[in-house]
Amino acid sequence: MTDLFDPCEFNGLRLQNRIALSPLTRTRSNEAGEAGALQALYYAQRASAGLLITEATPVAAGGRGGPNIPGLWSDDQVAGWRQVTDAVHERGGTIFCQLWHAGRLSHSSLGGGAAPIAPSAMTQPGQFFTLAGPVPYEEARALRTDEMPDIVAMFASGARRAKAAGFDGVELHAAHSYLIDAFLRDMTNRRTDAYGGSVENRARLLVEVLEALVAVWGGARTAVRLAPIGHAYGAWDSDPEPLFTHVVERLNDLGVGWLDLVEGDTGISRTAEPGFDLRKLRRLFKGVTIANNLYDRELAIAARAADSADLIAFGRPFIGNPDLVERLRRGAPLTVADPRGYYGGGARGYTDFPTLEEEAAAAAG
Ligand SMILES: Cc1cc2nc3c(=O)[nH]c(=O)nc-3n(C[C@H](O)[C@H](O)[C@H](O)COP(=O)(O)O)c2cc1C
Repeated sequence: MTDLFDPCEFNGLRLQNRIALSPLTRTRSNEAGEAGALQALYYAQRASAGLLITEATPVAAGGRGGPNIPGLWSDDQVAGWRQVTDAVHERGGTIFCQLWHAGRLSHSSLGGGAAPIAPSAMTQPGQFFTLAGPVPYEEARALRTDEMPDIVAMFASGARRAKAAGFDGVELHAAHSYLIDAFLRDMTNRRTDAYGGSVENRARLLVEVLEALVAVWGGARTAVRLAPIGHAYGAWDSDPEPLFTHVVERLNDLGVGWLDLVEGDTGISRTAEPGFDLRKLRRLFKGVTIANNLYDRELAIAARAADSADLIAFGRPFIGNPDLVERLRRGAPLTVADPRGYYGGGARGYTDFPTLEEEAAAAAG
């Protein structure tokens, strides 16, 4: 007995169940960063999830974490996403758009030749993937204090375009060391102005961006994704508990309706050091909680039994199983997708995974 598969209502939205599609970058847009029929099919195939959260959607060309990522930095990109939201709504689904700026984890080849931006000048180790192949990350340029309103304005424009595209809400990507998360953490934020130093100052950009999103969408349709103890792309803070406690207090002040928490290190482990008990954040947060990272059927059912999160988000299991909800409901086997198909490659490894019914029909010949 579990309520994981039961319809539910949160913040005025009727959801088909308590399972969410975790945001997944799949890099299959055209070069103009437009979504289209292929993305519409992909999301529609997964529309039986209670809540779909899109792949991270850049609010600036220079905020892209790679090529072929569908964005919302221009009005021309609205129509493609409208195809996606229409297709999902036709199937009774609910879909939020994850708004994103990759910060120092972008590249000048995508930013019109301009260096990527960050709280503080630094160079990410490792390689950035361009269409021409991997290249080293470049030194990021530290944003000036007088540029901060421009960053907020980019997110506000992205939020307005998401509304024009017919989404049901937006999620701010504030995890994985991208621009907003990089401001939060003392490893990547060495600033001495009003956006660096104390936890209040490091959280200032997040708060200002969320104020802008709430102004467009209202708190009930605004979500935020945090990975408080994750270390993806070098995310690190010497003392995450007071930092993220402060962040969640501000979310409550702003009336942010949804908190999507990555538990541990995304895709790697459900624990990380320095860690702390994330249940404290959940208890503090007044809105709807989404839990993600390495969930399987058993863990998701246990999480609902303990009421440790309102929704459970699955990432990789949704790649190979468009009908993941039905498979989990029945306890049916899951298709494990080949990671080589995660990024790029058109329909192959994207929209060609069968449902249980399609498998049965193929087996029956
Ligand atoms: C191919 C791929 C793309 C991802 N893209 C995003 C993204 O755009 N935004 C985000 O917040 N997380 C992203 N993630 C992280 C997932 O949302 C999720 O946290 C991770 O896969 C762990 O959940 P899982 O064990 O259910 O897969 C991505 C993960 C994968 C494997």
